[in-house]
Amino acid sequence: MNQDFAGQTAVVSAASRGIGRAIAQELLSRGASVTITARDAATLRSTADELAVEAGVERDRVLAVPGDAGDTESRAEAIKRTIEQFGSLDVLVNNAGVNSLFGPLVDADLDEVRQTFDVNVTAALGFTQLAWHSWMSEHGGAIVNMSSTAALRATGDIGVYGASKLALSRLTEELAYQLGPKVRVNAVAPAVVKTVFAEPLYSGQEAEVVKRYPLGRLGDPSDVAKLVAFLASDAAGWITGDTIRIDGGQLVHSVIA
Ligand SMILES: NC(=O)c1ccc[n+]([C@@H]2O[C@H](COP(=O)([O-])OP(=O)(O)OC[C@H]3O[C@@H](n4cnc5c(N)ncnc54)[C@H](OP(=O)(O)O)[C@@H]3O)[C@@H](O)[C@H]2O)c1
Repeated sequence: MNQDFAGQTAVVSAASRGIGRAIAQELLSRGASVTITARDAATLRSTADELAVEAGVERDRVLAVPGDAGDTESRAEAIKRTIEQFGSLDVLVNNAGVNSLFGPLVDADLDEVRQTFDVNVTAALGFTQLAWHSWMSEHGGAIVNMSSTAALRATGDIGVYGASKLALSRLTEELAYQLGPKVRVNAVAPAVVKTVFAEPLYSGQEAEVVKRYPLGRLGDPSDVAKLVAFLASDAAGWITGDTIRIDGGQLVHSVIA
């Protein structure tokens, strides 16, 4: 495997399973040391153990720091312990995202709306501020934010989530403008990827759902991980401020076609 992240350190939020785990696995197997976060400490520790075995690296190349991405102290702890253990912070992946609201916006619980924006948008900015002040302002780095195709079209049922992800893409552009040339900031926008999070969108109806995908299948976490690693790598050295769709072609056509 290409070792293009050798000697680098990455923080991946929300990485005990799903897309975040796949991103951590990709970066680790390409030479990075990786900090992973998530709320459930026991699951996070097991994931860290598994990742080191899967990548065939020393266990101390994976640091598990439990905590809620929406919590200020948890974020600070993750960044502080990363720099203490690995001595740098070259790549930040703001992968944490929640979606607890379904249905009409006019009936959405506003406390839940605030909480959604807090984890999906404010937390990404909070992690970015910490990464910038503790390492990247001096040494440079790359940041990748986890947006969604729900940011790019109306969905009818996950509108708050979509609005928060569009805010994250917009934040990505503004950060790219403000943090360049030291730091590149990009985002990825996946359609449905087969994880626990997206299960309600395809479970029991996958054959029907994939008809809307020209490439004939839903996403796998590794599809997204490879794109995130590309954007974090030197191979993407002249890309910043972009949100790249990764959706099996879902948005190339209209649902009325
Ligand atoms: N799957 C898709 O179709 C899809 C499409 C577009 C975008 N996305 C985005 O991809 C990201 C990851 O989703 P996924 O599909 O990989 O979900 P997943 O498989 O359900 O994994 C979610 C991960 O996030 C952690 N997590 C949840 N809330 C957290 C919080 N507040 N703070 C820290 N960690 C938290 C979970 O662990 P704990 O529960 O222990 O915290 C778990 O490790 C999200 O931002 C989501 O919006 C997903």
